[in-house]
Amino acid sequence: MRQTLTINTNLQKYTVTTESGLFKRLGNTLANLFPGKKIAVITDETVMSIYEEELRNQLDSADINWTLISLPPGEDSKSFHVLPDLYSKLLDFQLTRGDVILAFGGGVIGDIAGFTAATFLRGVSLIQVPTTLMAMVDASIGGKNGANLPEGRNLAGTFYQPQEVFIDPNFVRTLPDEIFEDGMAEVIKYGCVFDADLFSDLMDRASKNDGSGIESIIYRCCLIKKQIIELDCRDYGIAMLLNFGHTFGHCIEDYYPEGTYSHGEAVAIGMYTTALAGERAGLTAPNTATLLKKLLSAYELPYELPSDADIQKISETVKHDKKRRGNQLNLVLLEKIGKGFLYQIEKTEYADFIDYRIK
Ligand SMILES: NC(=O)c1ccc[n+]([C@@H]2O[C@H](COP(=O)([O-])OP(=O)(O)OC[C@H]3O[C@@H](n4cnc5c(N)ncnc54)[C@H](O)[C@@H]3O)[C@@H](O)[C@H]2O)c1
Ligand SMILES: [Zn+2]
Repeated sequence: MRQTLTINTNLQKYTVTTESGLFKRLGNTLANLFPGKKIAVITDETVMSIYEEELRNQLDSADINWTLISLPPGEDSKSFHVLPDLYSKLLDFQLTRGDVILAFGGGVIGDIAGFTAATFLRGVSLIQVPTTLMAMVDASIGGKNGANLPEGRNLAGTFYQPQEVFIDPNFVRTLPDEIFEDGMAEVIKYGCVFDADLFSDLMDRASKNDGSGIESIIYRCCLIKKQIIELDCRDYGIAMLLNFGHTFGHCIEDYYPEGTYSHGEAVAIGMYTTALAGERAGLTAPNTATLLKKLLSAYELPYELPSDADIQKISETVKHDKKRRGNQLNLVLLEKIGKGFLYQIEKTEYADFIDYRIK
């Protein structure tokens, strides 16, 4: 079923369309929306290895003048140093300010293509066609883009809204399990912080174990994200609640060698750990962490670190977070499942707060 949402920020208005099978009509849809425009598709090689033939069919049969720029898969392609080459390829293609950049891939492609669209010729139209669950429910909507610097991730970036977002949930069928589960951690996060019904529907869906219902789950997450960014498109207020599980999650990602925990796994552990710490402090309803543990396990996500992990030491990495200067941390806690809130804490108090294992 085709479902559309209109995102109305004070900067721009655009549509998010979610529909299984949408990709099979993408060519005509683009030709109708952007007649006579050139389109530069930015994607990665893994996505190309699966979808290049259909993409070519779509764009060629709709008579679109387009080019393909394919980057290696993975976070490195989001590096600032890939930009000059991207700009050169766009110049070779003679893309003008009236033309379009289409991001076709996961969050890495969405972020670097978004940054490119925001900065090339001071801004060209951007279309997001997300192909991972993470990008569908989070990265493709909201206009945040980013590039990694040698000093750290996402240290450069802009807010630049896309003109259209086209979500075809069928893309998730080709995702490796671990990448699907990574996205599921963010979906569970939406349920925890904003929507208790979504949380319990996720539990029911897991017990059916037939892969059904993903289309409506994606739509509901997009609806939540729409409501948040319409209130706070620059991440100063309610949007910070989307960081639930991420403070400790980022500590885990920083502390362990790269590849030990994926982002979704780190966030999953971050969410459970934060729920337990919240319960311990009397700020989170009893049993919240147990419910969360059950749901994370149902989606084969981890919820805790090994018993010998030094939580104090791991949480110290919060002090080196380049995006969070100052002494205060805005922690996201749960009052209960479905209701998150912001809680300010001194950075120096964080280790004792989060380390639920100490008495
Ligand atoms: N801008 C935002 O608001 C925002 C929000 C969340 C995350 N992000 C960013 O998103 C990135 C993570 O995104 P991600 O998890 O999508 O990672 P990703 O883009 O690296 O994709 C993960 C892997 O899946 C492959 N892939 C993509 N679609 C596929 C498909 N349909 N079938 C098979 N394989 C496919 C990719 O080639 C890649 O190897 C991070 O850089 C993060 O910072 C941005
Ligand atoms: Zn995340």
